[in-house]
Order: sequence, then C-alpha cells, then structure tokens
Amino acid sequence: MAAVSESPVFRATTTAPVNIAVIKYWGKRDATLNLPTNSSLSVTLSQRSLRTLTTASCSAGYPAADELTLNGKPQDIQSSKRTLACLASLRAHRQELENANSSLPKLSTLPLRIVSENNFPTAAGLASSAAGFAALVRAVADLYGLPQSPRELSRIARQGSGSACRSLMGGYVAWRSGELPDGSDSLAEEVAPQSHWPEMRALILVVSAEKKDVPSTTGMQTTVATSELFATRANAIVPARMAAIETAIQNRDFPAFAEVTMRDSNGFHATCLDSWPPIFYMNDVSRAAVRLVHDINSIVGRAVCAYTFDAGPNAVIYYLEKDSALVAGTFKAILGSSLEGWSGPFYESLKDVSSPGVALDQVDSRAVDVLKSGLSRVILTAVGEGPVSVEDHLVGEKGEILSRQ
Ligand code: DP6
Repeated sequence: MAAVSESPVFRATTTAPVNIAVIKYWGKRDATLNLPTNSSLSVTLSQRSLRTLTTASCSAGYPAADELTLNGKPQDIQSSKRTLACLASLRAHRQELENANSSLPKLSTLPLRIVSENNFPTAAGLASSAAGFAALVRAVADLYGLPQSPRELSRIARQGSGSACRSLMGGYVAWRSGELPDGSDSLAEEVAPQSHWPEMRALILVVSAEKKDVPSTTGMQTTVATSELFATRANAIVPARMAAIETAIQNRDFPAFAEVTMRDSNGFHATCLDSWPPIFYMNDVSRAAVRLVHDINSIVGRAVCAYTFDAGPNAVIYYLEKDSALVAGTFKAILGSSLEGWSGPFYESLKDVSSPGVALDQVDSRAVDVLKSGLSRVILTAVGEGPVSVEDHLVGEKGEILSRQ
C-alpha cells in the first residue's frame, strides 16, 4: 500500500488517445534523443473506445523516489530511461517557472506519484505506449501549470515513445522529423482537427496472437542497419507520401487517402521483410484482411476502405461513416455478430445492418475462413480529440491510489 500523506497533495488528471499512423514512423536517426529518420502522420482515435487515464500528483509527504503505477502494477521508473527523460524535462520547465516567480510552490522539488489506467484490455495487443506517454506528459505538465503548447510538449513525449508525440493532439497529426541534431525541430503538429473530417471511422481487427512480436524499438533498429530498401523509403518515398496524404486530408479525398495509407503500410512491412534477419509482423490472418479489403474495394468499384498494420498482426481498417454498411457491415457478416466488440460506441450506424454490404460469394472464400478463425475481438472506433483534462482522479486527496476499474 502506498503511504497516505498528511502534507498537501497536488493533483492533475488527463485522458489521452491512441493514434494509428497512416504514414509510418520506422527508423531512428538518433536513438538517445529518439529522433526519427522520416516524418509520419496519424489519425487520433476516439477516447470513447480507447483511452489512457492518468493522474500526476506530488507531495512532500510521499517517499523520496518518484512512483508510477500502471493498471494497478507499480513500475520500476529508475530502469526506464525514457520515463526518467520525460520527467526530467518536465521538472526543468517547472523549475524555470519557479525561478521566475518565487511565490509559486516548489513543486519541482517534490516526489511524484503517477497513476495510470487504460480502458482497454492489455490482452487486446494494442500498443498502449503512445497513449500512455502522452497522458503522462500531459498530466505532469498540467500538474506543473506549464505554459508549453501541445506542439512543444510533443518534444518531451517523443522521448518516451516516438509515436506518443502524435497523441498530444486530436484529428490528423503529423510528426515532422526535423533536421537539427538536437531534435528541437522534431515535433508533432495538427494537420487538420477532428472537426475537419469527422466522418473517418476505424475498425480494428484484433488478431489472436500466440507469441510476442519483435518490439518496435529493436525492429526498427534492425531495419535501419540492414535493409537495402530502407534508405529509399526514408529519403524519397515517405516525403512524397506525406505531401500526398496531407492533400488528401485537406480535400477529404478518401480514395487518395486510402491508396497512400495501404501503400505505406505495405512499404513499411516490405522493409521489415527486407531486414536481415527478416522481421514478420503480419501473419496469415493479417493477409486475409488485406485480401478482403481489396476485394470489397474492387466489388464496390471505388476505394471505400483502407488497411494499415503496425508492428503486429492487428489490422486497422479506415472507412467513412457513410460506407459503414458496405465495410463494417461486410466484416460483421463475415465474422458474426457474436464476436466481442461490435456493440459499444460507434455501433449505431451498424445496428440495423443485417446483410453484408457486398455479396459474400464474390469475396475470397479462403480469406473469409482464415479471418473468421483468427480474431479474438473487434473494436469499432473513429477519429477523435486530443487529451482532455478531467476530475476523475486516480489519486485521492490524501495521496491514496484509487482505481476506476
Ligand atoms: C509501427 O513509437 O513504439 O507503430 O519510439 O521506439 O517507442 P519507439 O517506437 P514506437 O514505434 C511505433 C512504430 C509504428 C509506426 C507508427 O506508429 O508510426
């Protein structure tokens, strides 16, 4: 049990979203500062489906060493260089405020107690580090009353996990790789808010994975060191795709968005296969999802859905709300409504859909069989907002750890 404190406890609580890249970050030009070899762009997903809730607190009554509890389990902060780097930067910013205004409480000198919970099962195999580090940085920045913008805070979150810098904002977010050796220009920025293109939906097909994949940090270093395709991807292909996807987003042009998204996912996984020894994140179930997306698009005669895969086998399928019956309706007919995850947020437009959007005898029947037997659940979600400050504290007024689960 964490000690209960008699000294004042200062608290701030925030939620933060998951983001799924459509132009992938893969490769570091500086592993210590966590600087990427190429820019990337993601869609922030709705916190109605997936979110991290984090309370940052500090008190003179806490034990001297900073503490972090994730999903009820105390973490060893001292062995996480990334967490230490984030906290050191945040403290330095607070210190600047205290130096400039001596009436401020000296929060930078107090031990921290940070408590964080995800609202989605860890077993879902979804990378939670992006939402986790974004929430940690936002919560401590709020606790310290830091004036830095989300863009400036993204520089700190980036040190926790590269993709985390994109979870500090909502909508459509670019992480500009930057050029400076110190990384000061490697920042995330909102390309378009959620309200610009709110119709974007995402269906996540969670694959029942039996073994752990190569962690992304190690995988990308192997790719940079050994893949012959990699340099072309980073130097020529991604810059052109960044420009193309930003135009597609500005014009709300789904077919263009879809093609760039699918090509970039395929290109990223091609550099994984081209690594030595090769790295495989997609499996037969992932490839069945790819086949079905292409089948649906070709039957409909236009791109109505687009897949993307991160460093694991789960498929994320983007589509527009108006095409819910065609896309999600077809997947629901294939997978059956008893599979976990269909009900819940964003189910409304699917509730009354009883037949598949496209004729099932026209899609690849082997892909249907492989997909049907290979998923553990689905998650229906959509483009969403950035972190939100809330009063749902995970640390009580006396410093005690609370649970919302
Ligand atoms: C495939 O952000 O997890 O999801 O910076 O080493 O923590 P680190 O890597 P991480 O890598 C994410 C890789 C990706 C693509 C993406 O999100 O852009």
